[in-house]
Amino acid sequence: MNVLAVVVASVSGRAAQVERTIREMTNDTWNAVDRYFTDLLVQADPALDAAMEASEAAGLPGISVSPCMGKLLHLLTRMHRVRTILEIGTLGGYSTIWMARALPADGRLLTLEADPKHAEIARSNIARAGVSHLVDVRLGPAIETLPRLEGEGASPFDMIFIDADKPSTPEYFGWALQLSRPGSLIIVDNVVRSGAIVDQTSRDASVQGMRRFAAMLASEPRVSATAIQTVGGKGYDGFALALVSSRL
Ligand code: SAH
Ligand code: DHB
Ligand code: MG
Repeated sequence: MNVLAVVVASVSGRAAQVERTIREMTNDTWNAVDRYFTDLLVQADPALDAAMEASEAAGLPGISVSPCMGKLLHLLTRMHRVRTILEIGTLGGYSTIWMARALPADGRLLTLEADPKHAEIARSNIARAGVSHLVDVRLGPAIETLPRLEGEGASPFDMIFIDADKPSTPEYFGWALQLSRPGSLIIVDNVVRSGAIVDQTSRDASVQGMRRFAAMLASEPRVSATAIQTVGGKGYDGFALALVSSRL
């Protein structure tokens, strides 16, 4: 390595370190603010806490929605007087419980999960939360379980939360449209991916999936949509929200 290369390497090494430090500081602030609002606004719920603990103890990945995002799903359910919900991607049922808690006594939540272990933990978490009578955890790859729903009379759903394997999001959004009615809400998690969504050359299948989904959303005449960036305990991500307006 020549002298110039060494200098460049050491300067860019320092730059990378500075960037890392800034990122860590920013993350600390995001976390502190997320915790601040969670402590103030998100009522303690022993069953939700227990669901998180049991999921972690079982080795499930820590990718449930944040408490504030769970509360948002809960509020949307109540605000929109939602009675029927479809969730794609259950994990340990944390988001499921948040939404089920907002349903009326005759409400119904169908949640699709491909991983048997996740489904098992979710069922136990959902039972502990006392909402089993409202929730049906359906095991299997969503692309196989989705086509059956219309035939069994489960649709249309008032609200659909898409939060499973990210590369398949465009297909799930297509199904969400199929299984909705004018007035239904469709919420899609993880549309920002630390900003990678704007990288059109990204080779990450999740990012490409979300970009294809965003293009669908933009050109879909049946919905009116927005997307919101989020920061906090789960880093930098975001969600899209679409209101189904009319049938073609
Ligand atoms: N909604 C949950 C988090 C879901 S994480 C919460 O916020 O609490 C994503 C889940 O999707 C994982 O449990 C994963 O096993 C599941 N998943 C992945 N691929 C899937 C597929 N093809 N069909 C159904 N579920 C899938
Ligand atoms: C991942 C999935 C999620 O649903 C999420 O909210 C965060 C991360 C993931 O697969 O990495
Ligand atoms: Mg998610």
